[in-house]
Amino acid sequence: MEPAIAIVPMGLGHLRQVLDLGYEAFDTTTKPYTSWSLTSVAEHLDSASRSCWVAVDSDRVVGFVLGSMEFELREDWAYVEWIAVSPDMQGHGIAGRLMTACCDTLFHSGARRIVTDVENHNTASAALMRRNGFTEGTTVTLFVRPNPAESGASDDDQVALPPGTKRDLIRKGRIAGEGGRNRTPRGPAGVGTE
Ligand SMILES: CC(C)(COP(=O)(O)OP(=O)(O)OC[C@H]1O[C@@H](n2cnc3c(N)ncnc32)[C@H](O)[C@@H]1OP(=O)(O)O)[C@@H](O)C(=O)NCCC(=O)NCCS
Repeated sequence: MEPAIAIVPMGLGHLRQVLDLGYEAFDTTTKPYTSWSLTSVAEHLDSASRSCWVAVDSDRVVGFVLGSMEFELREDWAYVEWIAVSPDMQGHGIAGRLMTACCDTLFHSGARRIVTDVENHNTASAALMRRNGFTEGTTVTLFVRPNPAESGASDDDQVALPPGTKRDLIRKGRIAGEGGRNRTPRGPAGVGTE
């Protein structure tokens, strides 16, 4: 039998569970999930043009989607940046329901297009997007060139940036965030790769 899951607007009271579910669902050691953080969730909640929804089973948050009318400099394009469903609740159409609520709100807010990004191994996410009216647009591949003089340098090495600038770059996925916690990432065999 389908669980009785309600889709409701995300509020401050859901923040902790959303953050934890994100850490469970996303492999925050790899792109594009490196920017998952309290800041990225809070910025969505803080946005006047947000479309943030949670799927709740009684008091338990079992899924979320974070979207907003903020996509780069386009005022008429919206961005669905994060979506996840608790591993034990996947495959019941919960992400589809979250996506419907999120996109309906964004279109109602004036979005002419809604953009999302899917990592090329994430078949679950790609299926979800296609099922919900998204078609593939531009593909961007990150090319990475390490400094040959720094053979032992880790990916974490960063130029010192002012906090605001750094936060902005992390949010846009241009640089990796600290991750916030030590979590066991989901393996590549899971659906946790976007
Ligand atoms: C992607 C994700 C949100 C889908 O959640 P879900 O609630 O299981 O999705 P739904 O049940 O609504 O299914 C949506 C579609 O995806 C398909 N799908 C779900 N899991 C799948 C999988 N593992 N492999 C292939 N397709 C899958 C479903 O079959 C369905 O398509 P259909 O209706 O044509 O059959 C979930 O797998 C997840 O949380 N993954 C980890 C986090 C993540 O990668 N998020 C996306 C990037 S931000």
